[in-house]
Amino acid sequence: MKILLIGRSGQIAWELRRTLACLGNVIALDRHSSPLEIDLMNADSIRAAVRAIGPRLIVNAGAYTAVDKAEQEQDQAWRVNATAPGLLAECSAELGAGLVHYSTDYVFSGDARAPYREESATDPQNVYGLSKLEGEKAIAAVGIPHFILRTAWVYGERGSNFLLTMLRLMRERDVLPIVSDQIGAPTWSRLIAEATAALIMRSTNNELFAPDDKSGVYHLSCGGETSWYDFACRIKALGQAAGILPESCAILKAITGAAYPTAAKRPAYSVLSNAKLARQFGLQLPHWESALELCIAGQAKA
Ligand SMILES: NC(=O)c1ccc[n+]([C@@H]2O[C@H](COP(=O)([O-])OP(=O)(O)OC[C@H]3O[C@@H](n4cnc5c(N)ncnc54)[C@H](OP(=O)(O)O)[C@@H]3O)[C@@H](O)[C@H]2O)c1
Repeated sequence: MKILLIGRSGQIAWELRRTLACLGNVIALDRHSSPLEIDLMNADSIRAAVRAIGPRLIVNAGAYTAVDKAEQEQDQAWRVNATAPGLLAECSAELGAGLVHYSTDYVFSGDARAPYREESATDPQNVYGLSKLEGEKAIAAVGIPHFILRTAWVYGERGSNFLLTMLRLMRERDVLPIVSDQIGAPTWSRLIAEATAALIMRSTNNELFAPDDKSGVYHLSCGGETSWYDFACRIKALGQAAGILPESCAILKAITGAAYPTAAKRPAYSVLSNAKLARQFGLQLPHWESALELCIAGQAKA
């Protein structure tokens, strides 16, 4: 199966390059790749790249992910997150290909107190969330075989993420204020990529991606829930135990989101229920603490 992977160096894309490798011939493109590139801001670039490759499956891990900057750069965020997914779906339709795409917990308002399900009402509170929701709708409107995988609080060993930022700041600072009134489920990029590959495998017959009536939106995040503050406390404890943080590092101080204003409003609660993925495909990511332990153990070994 020829697979076009969009994004090469993003957190999830990087891991997908490995996990998709045994499913077929993976061609990973981004806006810096050569001789063929794909710029999600540019419709001609999208069409040209997809037609040149002619994939059976497109996996789009590219996105405009600068949540605060998106409040200013609305046009860029919209073109990449809302318009491009619709174009990718149209290209998939032309080729008879399937599409796997990622979305976010930020499509929800954060007012709930129990995990959001796929059919829960959406109400994004910032430009990034609005643009991602529009991208979901654009894909669904085309009617191709597809999975839209909503994930949350992504971290990993590469890229810009909370884990790596904390590990750096804990070494540099004496005191580190961290928001304690936003609740979510930290999710390791590697596990997202592993689950994506398993999902594709379970939905592919004779080199044909065919989820049939199982197309649609799925939540894909680690189990459990925590605050950014408690997540940081666990990073500190595990990091020190693994020897990747010194015994003496920053003291963590819980603060409210109101004390740490950001350009984009964040949902106070954005835990996702992963029951649909477990029910339909028997796939379930571990509890966030187990995943973090595995990720940090890997760093210690390196
Ligand atoms: N990070 C999170 O906490 C989080 C949470 C929920 C959902 N998600 C979703 O998960 C998916 C992957 O996120 P991630 O964390 O892996 O993101 P990431 O590390 O920020 O990577 C995003 C990738 O998109 C590429 N990209 C940006 N603009 C592009 C353009 N115009 N054309 C082509 N490529 C472009 C970037 O490439 P460049 O190097 O060229 O910029 C980068 O490789 C996204 O759909 C995101 O919305 C992420």
